Amino acid sequence: MAQASVKILPDRSIGTINPNIYGHFAEHLGRCIDEGIWVGPYSPIDNHGGIRTDVAEALRKLEIPVLRWPGGCFADAYDWRDGIGSSDQRPIRRNIWWGREEDNQFGTDEFLRLCEITGAQPYICGNVGSGSPREMMDWVEYCNYDGNTDLARLRAENGHPDPYEVDLWGVGNENWGCGGHMEPEEYARHYRRFETYLQPRDTELTLIACGHDHCWNHAFLNTLGSADSIDMLSIHHYYKAGPGTGFSDDEYYQLMAEAISLEPRIIRDTHLIRFFEGDNPGRVGLAIDEWGCWHPEATRPRLYQPSTHRDALSAAVVFDVFNRHADSVAMANIAQTVNVLHAIIQTDEEKMWLTPTYHIFDLYRPHMNNKALEAMTDCEAVATDAGDEVPCVSASASRDGDRLFVTITNLHLSEAAEVTVSLSECDLAFAEGQILSADAPDAVNGPDAPDRVTLAEYCCDAENGSLSCGIPAASSVGIWADITQ
Ligand code: AHR
Repeated sequence: MAQASVKILPDRSIGTINPNIYGHFAEHLGRCIDEGIWVGPYSPIDNHGGIRTDVAEALRKLEIPVLRWPGGCFADAYDWRDGIGSSDQRPIRRNIWWGREEDNQFGTDEFLRLCEITGAQPYICGNVGSGSPREMMDWVEYCNYDGNTDLARLRAENGHPDPYEVDLWGVGNENWGCGGHMEPEEYARHYRRFETYLQPRDTELTLIACGHDHCWNHAFLNTLGSADSIDMLSIHHYYKAGPGTGFSDDEYYQLMAEAISLEPRIIRDTHLIRFFEGDNPGRVGLAIDEWGCWHPEATRPRLYQPSTHRDALSAAVVFDVFNRHADSVAMANIAQTVNVLHAIIQTDEEKMWLTPTYHIFDLYRPHMNNKALEAMTDCEAVATDAGDEVPCVSASASRDGDRLFVTITNLHLSEAAEVTVSLSECDLAFAEGQILSADAPDAVNGPDAPDRVTLAEYCCDAENGSLSCGIPAASSVGIWADITQ
């Protein structure tokens, strides 16, 4: 059994873990919205006014903190007015990015109803690429204005007299690519125009600007001159190594290396943001508002792929990165919620099942709102053919008063690990939690075996003030322990 240790500094808080780090993203793409979330009110599949009951219930149980919509690339081609009002009056349009027709039955009011049912905070991504500041300003007014304007009355006629109070607004998506193929300087000028009309003196919205790689981000912020007009800067992180199933051992480790490669990006972009924040450091956060595995199986138009135990472990590694950078990562949204890419839920007509990644979200849930702590891991590493070194143990820790929550993943494919968890100058007692393990790294859940990979109870020994956790190969644990002096 391999030996490893995780040493935690109980008094060195990195920052509060924003629950929105455990957020989600649903786009009008493949079977994510249509079939996955929306089946229409006349479907034989059980629904609340068109929204699948089983999927909404699974999202509610997971307490998803935030949901991004309507895209992705779809956002910069979307006219929000197509998706409001009487369903038989809504136009059918081409979905130019994802090779399908959009009947607009799931629009703003349906999305916001989904958020109400699930308890998620809505995050709407506006159209900069083919839209205007006026259109986005009207969309904000439709959703949020508490008065007697035509748009506020239209919202009431459409069934919601009270303002929705949508706070999170994305100013475009991938405007360096499908959102208009802009140069960063050009996007900065558009951003400034949009921001002017979205932030009149009586509203306080949280605006998420579109970022990209480090050079783009630098040129964008440099053109703005400061980070004063943005609240978050978004970056995307997709990764892959070999196929989604049938991967080699090396490809298993390489996927972890690709997942971890997000960490240096976060560090560099945080420094950049801090530089442009000037006298007010720490106000602007990073939003990794699309991330996850994108395997070669996921091709247009469906972008469907198997969602394996390996994918779930890679998500654990990414969550540890987010927790370690709780002072700068303000939001993250896995791509995408149902049936598309790194899905947490999959459906086939009336059947629905939870993927291993759903369970990893569940395992990490207790970190939300805790104070992130510094955790130093000492373990062996595996070298990949591409020359990366993958530490066999990934961990992150947080505290809620006198309770410590620590997540540890043994990434080694064949060797169990004995991990000693200790706290400097404090003792740990009474540890219990949950474990996500599988009979094979490419194990998936499916309609005939929905619980092949699922959480089980776990406990570890607390002796002489530290924990001794035996963790099987390729498994993640989440443990609560009492902190005593
Ligand atoms: O998530 C799928 C697509 O990936 C999104 O539409 C786009 O933003 C990204 O390139």
